Amino acid sequence: MGIKIRSAVFPVAGRGTRFLPATKASPKEMLPVVDKPLIQYAVEEAIDAGATRLIFVTGSSKRAIEDHFDIDPELEQALLDGGKDELLRSVRDIVPEGVSCIYIRQGKPLGLGHAVLCARTAVGDEPFFVHLADDLIAGDPPCLTQMAGEYARHGGSVIAVETVPHEDTSSYGIVAVDEATRITEIVEKPAPDEAPSNSAVVGRYLLSAEIFDKLETTGRGAGGEIQLTDAIADLLAESPVYAYSFSGKRFDCGSKLGYLKATIAYGLDHPDTGEALLAHLRDLLED
Ligand code: G1P
Repeated sequence: MGIKIRSAVFPVAGRGTRFLPATKASPKEMLPVVDKPLIQYAVEEAIDAGATRLIFVTGSSKRAIEDHFDIDPELEQALLDGGKDELLRSVRDIVPEGVSCIYIRQGKPLGLGHAVLCARTAVGDEPFFVHLADDLIAGDPPCLTQMAGEYARHGGSVIAVETVPHEDTSSYGIVAVDEATRITEIVEKPAPDEAPSNSAVVGRYLLSAEIFDKLETTGRGAGGEIQLTDAIADLLAESPVYAYSFSGKRFDCGSKLGYLKATIAYGLDHPDTGEALLAHLRDLLED
């Protein structure tokens, strides 16, 4: 079952109110972790997993994302003239040859399910990835690549999950699974006493194109939005959906604390900053 997953959908229309005022005029997906914006980590992960068609579902004030993945001839010339070869490579190679970017405007903020449905024509009738850039995952191999491997084992749809504290279930889609990790139930943001487990959906999905028909008919759910989780619930009876416990560390970069933790973890791992940052953190803790 060596099917290549060609399309990756990045829903990036959300306003990022939790990071205001930083996100007033700049998309939350452009927040940097060390030297790359969150959306670039997302794109690199999708490309590593074999995606060649990057579909961004965008909204107003998101121009910076398009610019980031476009060629900037002036900048490239300036770096070339200045002999800054390494920096030149770092801006040139963001989107490698053979990979294309498609931008679709969501128009109305009707939720994650609606955003994914906006990508229907661009995706076509093939399985595809959905990647939520807020969830930054350090994994080796990267999470989507692990999921493509899981898909190759048994087909169906694959959703990344992680165990969360019981009191946090109301922040996530929550799943129940059978002994073969096939999802038997999925609920969007249940209260802890109504949650079927504490196994939470994180922002990585590999979905069969059958999901689009379900999204067409899914009504508004939690928060008055069209929820991807509800469409997946509708799919369960007809088509297998598997929960996948990825290996790696997830950072919730949709929250301030998660974002700071990511910055520290990636900063410690980065060749330019690791050693000095560690020394600095030690100093801080000794004070
Ligand atoms: C979305 C999904 C939710 C999932 C979460 C993962 O929620 O609706 O099911 O658990 O992403 O990050 P959001 O965080 O956008 O509210």
